[in-house]
Amino acid sequence: MTDVTVPRAEDFDEIAALLALAFHGESDPDLREVERGVFEPERSLLVRDGGIAVAHAAAFTRDLTVPGASVPAAHVTMVSVAPTHRRRGLLSTLMRRQLREIRDTRREPVAVLWASEGRIYPRFGYGLAAQRYTLQCDTTELRLPEPASAASGLRLDRPAAHRAELARLYERLRADRPGWSSRDERWWAYLLADVKSLRGGATERRVLLHDGATGVDGYALYRTKEEWDRSGPRGEVRVDEVVAATPEAYLALWRLLFSLDLTRRLSCPAAVDEPLLWLVNEPRRLSAQLTDGLWVRVVDVPAALAARRYATDVDLVVEVTDELLPENSGRWRLVGGRSGAECVATTAPAQLACDVRALGELYLGGSGLAALAAAGRLRELVPGTVAAAAPAFTWHRAPAPMEVF
Ligand SMILES: CC(C)(COP(=O)(O)OP(=O)(O)OC[C@H]1O[C@@H](n2cnc3c(N)ncnc32)[C@H](O)[C@@H]1OP(=O)(O)O)[C@@H](O)C(=O)NCCC(=O)NCCS
Repeated sequence: MTDVTVPRAEDFDEIAALLALAFHGESDPDLREVERGVFEPERSLLVRDGGIAVAHAAAFTRDLTVPGASVPAAHVTMVSVAPTHRRRGLLSTLMRRQLREIRDTRREPVAVLWASEGRIYPRFGYGLAAQRYTLQCDTTELRLPEPASAASGLRLDRPAAHRAELARLYERLRADRPGWSSRDERWWAYLLADVKSLRGGATERRVLLHDGATGVDGYALYRTKEEWDRSGPRGEVRVDEVVAATPEAYLALWRLLFSLDLTRRLSCPAAVDEPLLWLVNEPRRLSAQLTDGLWVRVVDVPAALAARRYATDVDLVVEVTDELLPENSGRWRLVGGRSGAECVATTAPAQLACDVRALGELYLGGSGLAALAAAGRLRELVPGTVAAAAPAFTWHRAPAPMEVF
């Protein structure tokens, strides 16, 4: 019964039905068509029982921005086990098989995912690499600075009409933002599809564009939700993403989003170093709630550690343990800095010891070496190593989880 098969493209409807069951969603034909567009059947793993789909996991082939580089990363997704077949080890079987394929066949150094519940994935070596805020604010309580120039440079339109401009700007800025994933044509089609069942009672999605001297230098994707109470309008602005190349564009976009007539509230996801936190006159009123974003699994330790850059020079021997991928276990010497890194097996004495999950937590520069050591999740074998090495693992921008995939 636990035979894992690789499905065909035609099996997608059956997989979508299993996902709807596991996630308590409705089966929406429009959404299914959009999801079919990014489905990679050859990366999908399916278990059937008596001919019925009961467990599934898949991955998308995308690149992930990491400190100073962009690396191929398996974007793990669509993980579901039928309620009738839970807690029999089916997820564990799929995770093992998937990690093996990511490493041996795909040769991707890391895997990345969003977790429905944070306690599911650490046992498979995934570490919480990037948190984010969700903002839920009362815009009547917040002020943004006046812009330096009166000209707004803003336009509103349907997002699909500007796909190429959005893609160009996003790709240009992606290099500097750990946590952003590459978006090819298929992904832009998926992201801008705007199916009705996912609107949560709000309007269709709109794009606010900011024109700079050389074209579009900022955009915001958002929708609004009408609401009235006895005292008048209480509409909400729901922002999906704001991408801006300049402080002027960033401020202009947010000023409009904060001041839309008939709205009083705004919600949006935000990076932990979101500039908005330093722009508003009353940051507490953003009601920022910290939540988990990207989970990273280091699949090939030397390849992954050599693929990212380090904020300061580092020369370190780490003893790693990895139960699921034993090739990662052992002592690794990492020598790196801002212009590159090397990581090779060594017999030299280790200065730090940790499991592979901790490497995932450190990978995007969002978690501190010292915090992990204080939590007892990483052991300092040579005194002083944590303080000396910690700056190297940080980065000048915090990792920013973007779209949930
Ligand atoms: C989460 C899910 C995939 C787990 O599948 P499963 O086949 O039951 O998992 P396994 O039997 O392989 O469980 C492995 C271990 O993880 C634990 N575990 C699995 N899911 C868990 C959960 N949601 N909360 C806490 N522990 C969980 C199991 O108890 C088991 O622990 P053990 O080894 O100590 O006994 C399944 O419950 C599901 O589809 N849930 C709804 C959809 C969902 O959340 N998918 C994940 C999307 S990111």
